[in-house]
Amino acid sequence: MNKKSLNIEFIEYDSTNGIDEDLLGLIDQAEGNLHNAYAPYSNFKVSAVCKMANGEIVSGTNQENGAYPSGLCAERVAVFAAKSEFPNQNIDKIVITTEHSSEQPVSPCGACRQVLIEYETTQNQSIELILKSGDSKIWHFKSIKDLLPFAFDGASILKKD
Ligand code: THU
Repeated sequence: MNKKSLNIEFIEYDSTNGIDEDLLGLIDQAEGNLHNAYAPYSNFKVSAVCKMANGEIVSGTNQENGAYPSGLCAERVAVFAAKSEFPNQNIDKIVITTEHSSEQPVSPCGACRQVLIEYETTQNQSIELILKSGDSKIWHFKSIKDLLPFAFDGASILKKD
């Protein structure tokens, strides 16, 4: 029997001090887009911005629907739009923001993590993930793997025989 453990590292910023200009711009853009969310049911607006390897920025906000499961989280709106528009470009970073201040910033749901990790795995380059909720501390992860260890890999389906 082996007892194993996992250590996850990330950077926590108390404020925007120390964050590079490029990332600050992305955070501003994500927060500036919050008003585009369509969240009449939850009243919980979320905004995500993807920075692609070619420098393009693609944004998304959560889009709800009266038939509840038909809506989509901001992260998936953003990454699906990004990969539809720029299928051959890697995603370098994704910034996720909400307007609701909380001690810990809001973190992506399990389904969004699964979608993000598949792009990370197939592009063979880590996707940085940055979280900020209102005036919360800012969390910066180097890889989606840090949020979804032991993830299911779609490649297992292709290798099954
Ligand atoms: N939501 C997101 O857009 N991203 C998250 O990471 C968590 C939740 C949305 C889904 C729904 O529109 C609202 O927030 C409340 O769950």
